[in-house]
Amino acid sequence: MEKRVAVLQGDGIGPEVTEAAVRVLEVVARRFNHTFQFDFASIGGEAIDKFNHPLPEETIAICESSDAILLGAVGGPKWDQNPSELRPEKGLLAIRKHFDLFANLRPVKAVPSLLHASPLKEDVVKNVDMMIVRELTGGIYFGEPSRKTAKSAVDTLVYTREEIERIVEKAFELARLRRGKVTSVDKANVLQSSKLWHEVVEEMKKGYPDVEVEHQLVDSAAMKLITNPGSFDVVVTENMFGDILSDEASVITGSLGLLPSASVRSDGFGLYEPVHGSAPDVAGKGIANPAAAILSAAMMLRYSFGMETEAATIEKAVETVFEDGHFTSDLSVEDGRVHSTKEWTDKVIGELDLQFVSN
Ligand code: NAD
Ligand code: IPM
Ligand code: MN
Repeated sequence: MEKRVAVLQGDGIGPEVTEAAVRVLEVVARRFNHTFQFDFASIGGEAIDKFNHPLPEETIAICESSDAILLGAVGGPKWDQNPSELRPEKGLLAIRKHFDLFANLRPVKAVPSLLHASPLKEDVVKNVDMMIVRELTGGIYFGEPSRKTAKSAVDTLVYTREEIERIVEKAFELARLRRGKVTSVDKANVLQSSKLWHEVVEEMKKGYPDVEVEHQLVDSAAMKLITNPGSFDVVVTENMFGDILSDEASVITGSLGLLPSASVRSDGFGLYEPVHGSAPDVAGKGIANPAAAILSAAMMLRYSFGMETEAATIEKAVETVFEDGHFTSDLSVEDGRVHSTKEWTDKVIGELDLQFVSN
């Protein structure tokens, strides 16, 4: 197959981890006889510096002519004092909205050889396999009015029934392909938007009698995510709760540097990016963990290109490299070797090569 991928590297460790993902994709393309054309474009802080805009027209045009988007991360202290329209994060929100990427899928799966990298007990994390389904183009991130003066500030949390229905449907469909359970997380004891969310889930579950549904309030869900993460299968929630809960869930796996994500709409077009940010504290040192970016590339193959075997091959290579005792410095493991971003990516590529020799 021939596919065009827009690569938006962004800021901080963004370029370091996307470079790793592109290298892995190049190997996969060679091995499976695909052609991936990579078109690089600007987003975030680097786009502000070059074009005075966090999401330049040219970037949108490149993404529109692509089959999928691979993104690194945006943001950093250099732009933190900018007015809100000229913040790197605005570019990320704008691209999600422009392409209507309402469904953000964030899988959280314990890696057997990394159980001891989590600060949680091995027994608690060992069987974790959940999918956080985060609504991505609505809620408090986008509601109007949104403004601030010296004396007061306002943000608006709005959800329409249609916005809730389409993300909840996505969660139900995913649950059917997994263990058949949906946990809907809201704050229906306080928020009107959550009451509507709760009602919609109750109505829609009638269409999915094969799926078990539970509701949890976000505060206790945050607690259960740590005390009993194995009890979750699909977690569906609104934009901001999903943002917070997914960073929390990264603790289960041992590092934020391990969590990939897919932001998709109904026709399969999608943007693929790590859950983590630009990590200014480690940027430029060549030590970032590229696993989240590489696994995001695998999700792109699976969800946008229908290349399940290729995606699974990447995931297996990543897992084997961990099993063989190769890590990056964010993973606090006692035994094993700590590598730079590039060396660790070389190990994954070596593993991909080995898989082909043995097949
Ligand atoms: P962050 O995710 O960038 O970093 C949090 C911590 O995790 C840091 O200590 C960092 O070093 C570590 N970390 C994250 N990813 C890592 C990796 N791959 N390898 C090794 N260590 C890793 O969050 P933050 O520090 O709160 O935010 C920094 C900037 O990133 C901010 O400007 C924020 O707005 C932005 N951000 C962007 C995205 C995105 O582009 N999708 C996501 C989150 C935050
Ligand atoms: C994420 C990030 C973004 C979000 C920021 C950078 C706008 O935290 O992708 O999780 O809040 O969605
Ligand atoms: Mn986040």
